Amino acid sequence: MKNITIIGTGYVGLVTGTCFAEKGHQVTCLDIDSEKINALQQGHLPFYEPDLAKLVTKNVAAGRLRFTDSYDQAIRGAQVCFLALPTPSLKDGSCDISYLLMAIEELAQHLKTPLFLVNKSTSPVGTAGKIAQTLHAALKHRDDAPSFEMISNPEFLREGSAVSDCLHPDRIVLGVSSEAAAEFMKELYAPFSVGPDQILIMDIPSAELAKYACNAMLATRVSFMNNLALFCEKVGANVEQIRRVMGGDPRIGEQYLRAGIGFGGSCLPKDVQALRSMALAYDHRMPILDSVLQINQAQLDHFFDKIVTSLSPLSDKTIAMWGLSFKPDTDDLRAAPALFLIEKLLSQGARLQLFDPIAMSKASRLLSKFEKITFCQDEYAAAQGAHALVLTTEWKQFQCVDFDKLGAQMQNKLLFDGRNQYQPSEMQKHGFHYMGIGIPPETIPLSLVHVHPE
Ligand code: UDX
Repeated sequence: MKNITIIGTGYVGLVTGTCFAEKGHQVTCLDIDSEKINALQQGHLPFYEPDLAKLVTKNVAAGRLRFTDSYDQAIRGAQVCFLALPTPSLKDGSCDISYLLMAIEELAQHLKTPLFLVNKSTSPVGTAGKIAQTLHAALKHRDDAPSFEMISNPEFLREGSAVSDCLHPDRIVLGVSSEAAAEFMKELYAPFSVGPDQILIMDIPSAELAKYACNAMLATRVSFMNNLALFCEKVGANVEQIRRVMGGDPRIGEQYLRAGIGFGGSCLPKDVQALRSMALAYDHRMPILDSVLQINQAQLDHFFDKIVTSLSPLSDKTIAMWGLSFKPDTDDLRAAPALFLIEKLLSQGARLQLFDPIAMSKASRLLSKFEKITFCQDEYAAAQGAHALVLTTEWKQFQCVDFDKLGAQMQNKLLFDGRNQYQPSEMQKHGFHYMGIGIPPETIPLSLVHVHPE
């Protein structure tokens, strides 16, 4: 058992801290947001993540997990401190590490005993060095300055499955500069039942860059498929069939080959931009990343154009939208394609009826200024009287819908499937005009899909 402090109780910090506690360590999670800490102390989580609430409750009750807004309390007796702070994008796409450096200044005032200092926040190559410099500078006037050692341990948690990803990691990346640091971290992760070949020990710059390389590769795969999907539309090919062929090749693998309306979230868009600008700072161009970002934007524009082409003018149309979060099983709306689409549709005067299984309260706060939006209680209510239905996030509950009942409520049986969730032939059976991404249009002409001609 080790004494762990986690600075920052966002997705990464809270999930990581809770999972370390679940594995038997003694964990203190620190955040400067006192409201958030008060809420956590009362068992209220700041975001939705499957299985997290019950693990937090269990480990708090067992005395292994506690929350504080006091650096002094948090750092007392800690053997290791994880930094899990936001590293947002600056205007030029580069990564802002000021939250990390501010936390270090504060930490320095309370640090009394030797410490392993682990950076978990996604941050550019060289960040560990800057953190170390900042801490050295802050400690240098103290006679009793304790020793510390930097480690880079990037996270690979996906929202929606973060707890499971954390408890059962594919691999653990440790950027270290001494044998002692490697041994300490291996002991820390020993209860996670990872084999020795899943613990990847390397130098610190490689660990820092590895995280960006992974997210940029995932984004590249998605953009490749999205770009290919638009070509499929031109030549009458089906990207879903092609995906099966590609995914069946073990050299390619099945994951991150789904065409759709683009990747969103707090990581992929930000990390591609950050890698691009990190490279530029070293006078190294990575033009592939420019394309990845440009395709991601074009994908959404193309989807929007399809809606406009079918329904123009939008000013007298009502559009139902299913799904607001950037992906299922999370209430995270950051860089959610649905939000970009909402803005575009509103700018053309459309009236929107929205539904998301989990993200409704966050979305209604964010979109409260727009009059032409109605937040609906379920997917059927959202479709009531709509001229078209747009699927933006592939929540499971949207898969088992009664399309006959749904179609009878709509003005037009027109479905824009932004995630290729439905079978065109099935939708055709229910009389829907179906438009997916990179899928040849099926045969029901638009003129026959009107349920209630105006
Ligand atoms: C990502 C990384 O996967 C994770 O390892 C890292 O630590 C944080 O960033 P996350 O942002 O939670 O995780 O989402 P992810 O599941 O990777 O999906 C990112 C985006 O890509 C979503 O918008 C998703 O809809 C989209 N996507 C994913 C596709 O469009 N097609 C795919 O085939 C896969």
